[in-house]
Amino acid sequence: MSGTAQAALPRLSVQDLSVTYVGRNGEKTEAVRDVSFDIADKPGVGEVVVFLGPSGCGKSTILKAVAGLLPPTKGKVLLDGQPVGEPGRDRGMVFQAYTSFGWLTVQENVEYGLKLQGVAPKERGERSREVLKEVGLLDFAGRLPKDLSGGMKQRVAIARTLVNKPRVVLMDEPFGALDPMTRWGMQGLLLDVSRVEDNTILFVTHDVSEAVYLADTCYVLSSRPARILHRVDIPSFAERDIHLKSSNEFRAIEKKLLDMLYAPQPAA
Ligand SMILES: Nc1ncnc2c1ncn2[C@@H]1O[C@H](COP(=O)(O)OP(=O)(O)O)[C@@H](O)[C@H]1O
Ligand SMILES: [Mg+2]
Repeated sequence: MSGTAQAALPRLSVQDLSVTYVGRNGEKTEAVRDVSFDIADKPGVGEVVVFLGPSGCGKSTILKAVAGLLPPTKGKVLLDGQPVGEPGRDRGMVFQAYTSFGWLTVQENVEYGLKLQGVAPKERGERSREVLKEVGLLDFAGRLPKDLSGGMKQRVAIARTLVNKPRVVLMDEPFGALDPMTRWGMQGLLLDVSRVEDNTILFVTHDVSEAVYLADTCYVLSSRPARILHRVDIPSFAERDIHLKSSNEFRAIEKKLLDMLYAPQPAA
């Protein structure tokens, strides 16, 4: 088997990605400059890669380029060695804003994409109930989104993405609108999900504590235009629970990342 060559192919490879927006009057905003990173394909293992950077630095722009929602000005994005084009089911996206259809039940929302793909009702039902169970919403399968709390609505959005079995899940500050308690709960849920699912989660945040809690690998970004300042491998803490956040080990890494964020930045 040509296993060695295949194993060497990264799941996601972003090479010299640069994005400059051009406004209506021709004014330019350079949002991302020469961002390169590889995410290895570790079969059977989910991985969380976090991009941490100040507000407005270009984080969403990086995710949108990976999603295929905007064309890079320069550079390329390869998924399993293939250039990404249009948005596709192999890359699921979860935004901060809730994105469910208000007139469909929770389960119908999760099944919606499968229905469009022509998946038969029986399989749709099985797959949607499986992911609803994973995100703890099985008891709410028949409810409408308006009956759900913010955290539960985001769990619907996550379930809608997972049901497609994407290779990469792109999450753009997905918990930014949630209160702190709910937010911690959602972070825990995401870690549980990433242990079960064999997909790579690309997670964007400006919250240092969230980055340390979730990441296997964290890329620290500069202010705009986003450039990668540092790559930090986060230790695999014995137990990721709520007490971890007040531990000395956790605080030390938080401080390290904060110092990186607030160090004098390279000239733009
Ligand atoms: N469609 C657009 N046209 C022009 N400028 C944009 C557009 N989208 C984002 N920007 C600008 O690009 C910069 C980076 O934006 P963004 O990627 O959304 O940052 P972040 O997600 O890190 O807050 C910001 O200065 C923002 O105003
Ligand atoms: Mg953003």
